[in-house]
Amino acid sequence: MLPKLSASRLASALRARHSHAKFSKGTSLCSAHGRMMSYGPVGVARALEASSSNDTDPTLFKQEFSLADRVALVTGGNRGIGLELALALVEAGTRAVYCVDLPEAPGDEFAKVREYASQLKGTGGDARLEYISADVTDQNAMWKIGEAVGDREGRMDVCVAAAGTLRGDTPCLTYPAKQFEEQVIAVNVNGVLYTAQAAGQQMDRFGKGGSIIMIASISGHGANKGHPWVSYNTSKSAVLQMARSMACELGPKNIRVNTISPGYINTSMTGQFLAKRPELVETWSSQNPLGRIGRPDELRGIVAWLASDASSFCTGSDILVSGGHHAW
Ligand SMILES: NC(=O)c1ccc[n+]([C@@H]2O[C@H](COP(=O)([O-])OP(=O)(O)OC[C@H]3O[C@@H](n4cnc5c(N)ncnc54)[C@H](O)[C@@H]3O)[C@@H](O)[C@H]2O)c1
Repeated sequence: MLPKLSASRLASALRARHSHAKFSKGTSLCSAHGRMMSYGPVGVARALEASSSNDTDPTLFKQEFSLADRVALVTGGNRGIGLELALALVEAGTRAVYCVDLPEAPGDEFAKVREYASQLKGTGGDARLEYISADVTDQNAMWKIGEAVGDREGRMDVCVAAAGTLRGDTPCLTYPAKQFEEQVIAVNVNGVLYTAQAAGQQMDRFGKGGSIIMIASISGHGANKGHPWVSYNTSKSAVLQMARSMACELGPKNIRVNTISPGYINTSMTGQFLAKRPELVETWSSQNPLGRIGRPDELRGIVAWLASDASSFCTGSDILVSGGHHAW
C-alpha cells in the first residue's frame, strides 16, 4: 500500500490535474470529479506530483486494477463462466469470493479450483473461494446470503450475477408459459435482480460503493440466427435494461452496475447443443470475424477491470466480448 497523501499534497495534486477546469462557486473539485482513491492521484496527476516526491511506483496494476482485500459474491460459481470469473477475482487480490450455485455440494472442478486459489502466490495465502448452495430465484434466501457474507466479512465490494439457463429450441408461437417464466425468466431475470439486491444492500450498508456485474449476452442485442430461443433472448435484453436502470438509481451511492455480453463461449450451456449438433461449432464460429467460439478465460480481463477502480467512471454500460459477432 502506498501511504496516504497529506492534505497539502492532495490539494497540490488536484490543482495540477484540474488546473484547466472551471467550477462554479461552491463546487468542490472532489464532488465534481468523484472521490479520490485512498492511494491518491494516478496517471498524469501523479506524474506531475512525482517531480516533487519519490512516488514513482507504477499504479495501474498494483493499485487501480488491484482487488486487494475485497469481498465478492458470484452466482453460477460452481462451473463455467461463473467459476472462471470467481478465480479471476481471486487472482486480482479478492480476499473472499462467495460462489452461489444449485448443487448441495460443489463439483470436482470447483474443489480443484478452490485448492488452487488457496495456494496462489502473491495473495498472502489466505484467498478463499467459498461455496453456498442456493437458488437465485429465492429472493429471501439471496438477501440472507448477502447479509451473512456482510456480517462475516465486514464488507461487500463486487457482485457477478452469472447464474443463468438456456432451454432447448422451442417455437415462439407455442412456447409453454411454465418453461418461459419459471424455467428461464425466473432465473435469468428475477434471479439476477435478487443477486444484485443481495450484494447491493450490503454495499449500501458499508458505504464504500461497489461494482455489480451482470452477465447478459449477445442474445440480448439480437436474436441468435437459426435458434428459436425467445425466452433466453428476452431475458438477456431485460438484464441489459436492468443494469442501466439500477446504475441510474445507485450511482449516487457509488455502486456501479454494468453488464458483460459474451458471444458463444465453450461451456456446459453451449455444450448441450454442440453434443447433439456438432456442426454448430462451424456455424457459430463462422458468425464472428475471429472465426471461433470463445473460451471462458477470455472474460477474465473484463471482469477484473469492471470490478476494480480501473473502471471507476464506468456504469450503466455493456461490454461486448463476442469475437466481433455483433460487428456484422
Ligand atoms: N456460454 C455462452 O456461450 C454464454 C454466452 C453468453 C452469456 N452466457 C451467460 O453466462 C452465464 C454463465 O453461463 P455458462 O455458459 O457458464 O453456463 P453453465 O450452464 O456452465 O453455468 C451456469 C451456472 O448457473 C447455475 N444456475 C442455473 N440456475 C440457477 C439457479 N436457479 N440458482 C443458482 N444457480 C443456478 C448452474 O447450476 C450453472 O452452474 C449465464 O448467465 C449465461 O446465460 C453464456
